Amino acid sequence: MPTIETITVIGAGAMGVGIAQVAAMAKFEVTLFDASHAQLEKARVTVDGSLERLVKKGALSASDAKASAGRIAVALDPTAAKEADLVIEAVFENESVKRDIWKKFDALCKPEALFASNTSSISITQLAAYTQRPERFIGMHFFNPVPVMQLVEVIRGNKTSDATCQAVMDLAKKMGKTPVQVNDYPGFVSNRVLMPLINEAIFAVFEGVATAVSVDDIFKLGMAHPMGPLTLADFIGLDVCLNIMDVLHQGFGDPKYRPCPLLRQMVAAGKLGRKSGEGFYKYP
Ligand code: CAA
Repeated sequence: MPTIETITVIGAGAMGVGIAQVAAMAKFEVTLFDASHAQLEKARVTVDGSLERLVKKGALSASDAKASAGRIAVALDPTAAKEADLVIEAVFENESVKRDIWKKFDALCKPEALFASNTSSISITQLAAYTQRPERFIGMHFFNPVPVMQLVEVIRGNKTSDATCQAVMDLAKKMGKTPVQVNDYPGFVSNRVLMPLINEAIFAVFEGVATAVSVDDIFKLGMAHPMGPLTLADFIGLDVCLNIMDVLHQGFGDPKYRPCPLLRQMVAAGKLGRKSGEGFYKYP
């Protein structure tokens, strides 16, 4: 079975930073790669803030927090991934962006390295086919905020080997997570079920059935969801939600997955949720 000691995370957005943090907390040596210097600077601040939060509530000692932060190196140069045992990609949810990344890293990483994509819906079999190592390619789908959410949805592609799957299941457990294995299919399980719920909530607002606040109250108070579906959509990013709905719509060819026109319009207007300052709610 492949041994994993060093991990490179590609992409210093919210997911990549969270993944780097939990890997470092589990004592792996982590390199966080991003093409943007500003993004890497921001990543340091985010990790420090999140570790401090864990220290304050007694979940982590101050010395472990310091050691964890020290295990994360940042890199602007992709060749930093050359010796990684595992590469986890967490770049924007767009197939051509991920294709270019994987082709590049496949050419420069050692042949025995395992590759995992944090994609929330794009076919693992398709992404694996952009590399020369489809049997060592798998989906490792983390949830936001990564330091808090327990689940890793582990997605087996058509050619993923048993050894790769076992190594990644074990790794997720070492990271303190609970891995749940599924097969490659549009939206896997999490987003096949979650996104149509969010999309339907957007339709309810679009059709004037209720306000965003009322829709969210119904789910918070009636179904004990920690966030209503529209707050959650803002938290995930409306552009990400739209991309996932497009993958479901295309992948199943079923009109029940059509994205709500209001979702499309809000994304076109730059209302992407929390990260842009406005979505269904305002974030001053
Ligand atoms: N780092 C470390 N700890 C954090 C943290 C972070 N970044 N963010 C929150 N926390 C901790 C807090 O310290 C707090 O811990 P305690 O309860 O032990 O004190 C706990 O998480 C709750 O945080 P808050 O009190 O600040 O806020 P909250 O009670 O409103 O909870 C939330 C925030 C955890 C985000 C909660 O609202 C929630 O669970 N929301 C739903 C999140 C969700 O569904 N995520 C999945 C989205 S889908 C996805 O990611 C994948 C996809 O493919 C689209």
